[in-house]
Amino acid sequence: MNNSAEKPTERKIIEVLKGRHYERPPVWMMRQAGRYLPEYREIRAKAGSFLNLCYTPDIAAEVTLQPIKRFGFDAAILFSDILVIPDAMGRKVSFVEGEGPRLEPINPDEIKKLKGTEAIGHLDPVIETVSILRNELPDEVSLLGFCGAPWTVATYMIAGRGTPDQAPARLFSYENEKVFENLLDQIAVFSAQYLIKQLEAGADAVQIFDSWSGVLGEKEFEKWCVLPVKKIVDLVRQKIPDAKIIGFPKSAGFLYQGYRQKTGVDCLGLDWSVPMSFAKELQGEGAIQGNLDPVRLIAGGKALDEGVEEIIEGLGNGPLIFNLGHGITPQTPIANVERMIELVRG
Ligand code: CP3
Repeated sequence: MNNSAEKPTERKIIEVLKGRHYERPPVWMMRQAGRYLPEYREIRAKAGSFLNLCYTPDIAAEVTLQPIKRFGFDAAILFSDILVIPDAMGRKVSFVEGEGPRLEPINPDEIKKLKGTEAIGHLDPVIETVSILRNELPDEVSLLGFCGAPWTVATYMIAGRGTPDQAPARLFSYENEKVFENLLDQIAVFSAQYLIKQLEAGADAVQIFDSWSGVLGEKEFEKWCVLPVKKIVDLVRQKIPDAKIIGFPKSAGFLYQGYRQKTGVDCLGLDWSVPMSFAKELQGEGAIQGNLDPVRLIAGGKALDEGVEEIIEGLGNGPLIFNLGHGITPQTPIANVERMIELVRG
């Protein structure tokens, strides 16, 4: 917090979320604290399990700050994972090295027995990480909290792992529609409470990751992506009316249309498949975040330079937060991240 009597320091990302345009857009990257950084791998090796890292505030804060110290991004994103929500709701969650998350697949009976927001204290260590971060971050760096969208979180709870097209969750939703609706509702209520606590602890804005929204048909997208995210946004704003929220319905394609209006998010996170003309249209209605193909960032050279230029040329005249279209991957060369930032900042 800025406690001087002077004008508070400008946090550019928050200004963009209010609709402001900058000549050079502010920049951060999804998964910016992660395995492509040697300093992350060093701490990760000492931390024991991945969840232990998420639930140890000092270490989680240190890892969050690593990319800020190295690259000077305009935002830090809280180091945690979307799957701490099922963990707090009483499901067993673990992460297998090199493979990803593992959960006990949930059945309809177990959905009735999930813990509600009385169990939110399970996430107190993450909230403590937020407080530490707000104290340690430079004033001009925005602090972002996050959660997974109910649909994306549910896909992992049902399949027990990531699958290429989330068919297990789609099947479950067709076969047990009412139970599935109830599951998403419970996740939405829990997630809203979690985001409120993050914002109260000092997060400047929050992002809702719907990484798997692209596998649904039109009606299902409305029911399982739009309505549950709207529920989270409404619950958060009941408590914090001016809460700033970024929605990221990855690979929603044409269904990006109307998502901002229907859910109430301030900013749309775009993946790299969105055509430029459509992205500009969406930007006409408010802030946009994205959307460099993370594989261009691995490739570097011409692929990287052209990718960044296209975004700056196409979207740089409106409210833009420069980001990737999905998380950075472990094999990405650090020099390419430096190059990307140099190009964005001009
Ligand atoms: O962006 C950040 O730097 C903040 C931290 C963050 C992590 N996960 C850390 C993490 C965030 C915002 C997430 C979100 C997340 N987690 C999503 C939504 C965004 C997306 O990528 O689609 C999803 C679907 C998950 C679930 C998850 N967690 C998966 C599928 C995996 C395995 C894949 C992988 O990259 O290993 C994780 C593990 C995970 N979450 C790691 C990190 C840094 C790697 C694990 C490790 O370091 O051992």
